[in-house]
Amino acid sequence: MDTKGLSATAVAVFEAISTRRSIGRLTTECPDRDLVERVIRTTSFAPNHRHTQPWRFLVLAGDARVRGGEVLERSLVRRLEDPETPSSLEVRQSERAKFLRAPVIVIVAIEPSNAPNVSLDEETAAGAAGVQNLLLASHAVGLAAVWRTGDSVRDESVPTEFGFAPSSMIIGYVYLGYPDPGHVGKPRPDRLPIETTTRWEGWT
Ligand SMILES: Cc1cc2nc3c(=O)[nH]c(=O)nc-3n(C[C@H](O)[C@H](O)[C@H](O)COP(=O)(O)O)c2cc1C
Repeated sequence: MDTKGLSATAVAVFEAISTRRSIGRLTTECPDRDLVERVIRTTSFAPNHRHTQPWRFLVLAGDARVRGGEVLERSLVRRLEDPETPSSLEVRQSERAKFLRAPVIVIVAIEPSNAPNVSLDEETAAGAAGVQNLLLASHAVGLAAVWRTGDSVRDESVPTEFGFAPSSMIIGYVYLGYPDPGHVGKPRPDRLPIETTTRWEGWT
């Protein structure tokens, strides 16, 4: 990351953005609720058109993760052709256990505004911007996080099962905790060079 000529604040921001990684191997230590609350508060500073603030959160720890896993399993059962075969029972068990991979699960949903001139894609974009804030803030305070999704996020019954309003949509599940120091992370996926992603016009 080229930080030449940048202020200390700018360097800190650039560093945080460029060193954040998805980390799924976490210890069982549960972060303080106060710390989790502080990182969640950063979501509300994300940009959102017409200031609808569509983001909503359900923060699970302890046994609540087990009940959350049961929601995932019920969703999977609705998608399985025969949920009682041995292989189905195996995938159900693995689905049910997913939320136990982190001490904290932040379920992020959007409750789209029904005001005129508000579009669902912009509400979703705002929710995603909020998640990025949450991930960066988590990284800044030494927490590890990964944004996960899966077929359950497209299951229309899931938002209400998690207690969100019926019109809500799940944006993702943020698995949060402290990084497992014994785990060597995956190599950082290559990023496309700016020459590939960006065209410049009107520059001399
Ligand atoms: C919308 C969205 C959904 C994602 N879903 C998953 C997921 O289900 N499982 C997972 O391991 N990672 C998931 N990720 C994380 C990406 O795999 C990860 O960001 C990508 O590999 C780049 O790695 P990095 O975050 O370490 O830079 C998701 C990311 C986004 C933005």
